[in-house]
Amino acid sequence: MKPQSPVQTPINLRTTGQQLHRRSWAEPWKIKMVEPIKKTTRRQREAALGAAGYNTFLLRSEDVYIDLLTDSGTSAMSDWQWAGIMLGDEAYAGSKNYYHLEDAVQKHYGFKHLIPTHQGRGAEHILSQIMIRPGDTVPGNMYFTTTRYHQEHAGAKFVDVIIDEAHDPVSLHPFKGNVDLAKLERVLKEAAHVPYVSLAVTVNMAGGQPVSMANARAVRELCTRYEVPVMLDATRAVENAWFIKAREPGFEGRTCAEILKEFCSYTDGCTMSGKKDALVNIGGWLSLNDGKLADKARNMVVIYEGLHTYGGMAGRDMEAMARGIEESVEDEHMRARVGQVEYLGELLQSYGVPVVVPIGGHAVYLDARRFYPNMPQDSFPAQTLSAELYLDAGVRSMERGIVSAGRDSATGKNHYPKLELVRLTIPRRVYTQAHMDVVAESVVAVYQQKVKAKGLKMVYEPEYLRFFQARFEPLKSKAKG
Ligand code: F0G
Repeated sequence: MKPQSPVQTPINLRTTGQQLHRRSWAEPWKIKMVEPIKKTTRRQREAALGAAGYNTFLLRSEDVYIDLLTDSGTSAMSDWQWAGIMLGDEAYAGSKNYYHLEDAVQKHYGFKHLIPTHQGRGAEHILSQIMIRPGDTVPGNMYFTTTRYHQEHAGAKFVDVIIDEAHDPVSLHPFKGNVDLAKLERVLKEAAHVPYVSLAVTVNMAGGQPVSMANARAVRELCTRYEVPVMLDATRAVENAWFIKAREPGFEGRTCAEILKEFCSYTDGCTMSGKKDALVNIGGWLSLNDGKLADKARNMVVIYEGLHTYGGMAGRDMEAMARGIEESVEDEHMRARVGQVEYLGELLQSYGVPVVVPIGGHAVYLDARRFYPNMPQDSFPAQTLSAELYLDAGVRSMERGIVSAGRDSATGKNHYPKLELVRLTIPRRVYTQAHMDVVAESVVAVYQQKVKAKGLKMVYEPEYLRFFQARFEPLKSKAKG
């Protein structure tokens, strides 16, 4: 698990004559094709950010130097995946690539039925529509934006049942994504109807934090007692498996593939964004063990996504995803993937920058509250930090704080999340260690200028998932904290 520590002093064998004690890891691939990226001047970035309403989602990617907006759909595919693209069977029905995908999902995730979708939220939509009735309650280990939206859109109330430590950016709990069983039991006892429990791994909004195998087992047991199914958001479940291998006693000797399969066995189905773990640029699926429910989902997928043997994907996309799944469960891949995120996180920590700890699986989260301790949450500290980072060196990040949290669907009031974070999300197999160094140094430069930041005001707020399209303007003077 431990990559070489960035703060370790270099070894000079010639002058010290010491034994070489350090054994570094490196990525289990080499680069076959490159994509040029361009540097911009500060003036160009100021113009670009102004035109984008201080929202990094509205920047053109051409104006970005190092793009850490998201790990979603941004992976570099392998030569084996690209070869699979050429083997696309573009039949409308029954494409052989669908069956390859079905085999890969059954082999590694273990669920019986596969309903392909264009991406994760397509699966969330179908699952919410077939399982939720108005007035239902859905407990989950912290919300994810699109997941909660679809649950609420189907008429449910979402209740957060994650452990308290998840809301504390400095708690060192090794499995900060865990479900608080007492909180969950209270909901199961008191709510009129719970269609399913929503279990996400790793937990994106908590900082990419994992859930332990013991916790998954306990959730399963509790839900079995209350006869409530558990639905997994498996988007980063292989990264979660790596953390179980690295941190949970008894799993050191097991492979990520074995751990993933066991983890999924405690759940009844999953929604999946293949754009993350599965190493593709587009694709997703819904898996279910219950045949009757799967029939309902297959019926609904034809309305919104496409026939149940392609669900919005081309045959070639399904082949790339089937192959991506095979590559994603390799331990060496995961070591490098999570190790690179940890490398950046440790570097930032060594520079004294406030980050969420432990470092998560897909991203390093800067703690904007500690970055700007006197900035009120209504001046959008994380959105401000994300803008400042772009201005400094063209690094694109994402706000994960009050803007992302949105408004309460019943009262219309702003949610005020405890976590006010900026996510530096690392695409898989895309950037090198040198890129990580450049990013860390840019974050430090912004940290050193932190007293100058004034904050932002929101000047346009879309109705749904506002963080994607909201627009901001800089405040002229600081608001009082
Ligand atoms: N669940 C989780 C945990 C996610 O992180 C995402 C997407 C989804 C579901 C939805 O999947 O994008 O394929 O429709 N997260 C992206 C991100 C957008 O940047 O974290 P999707």
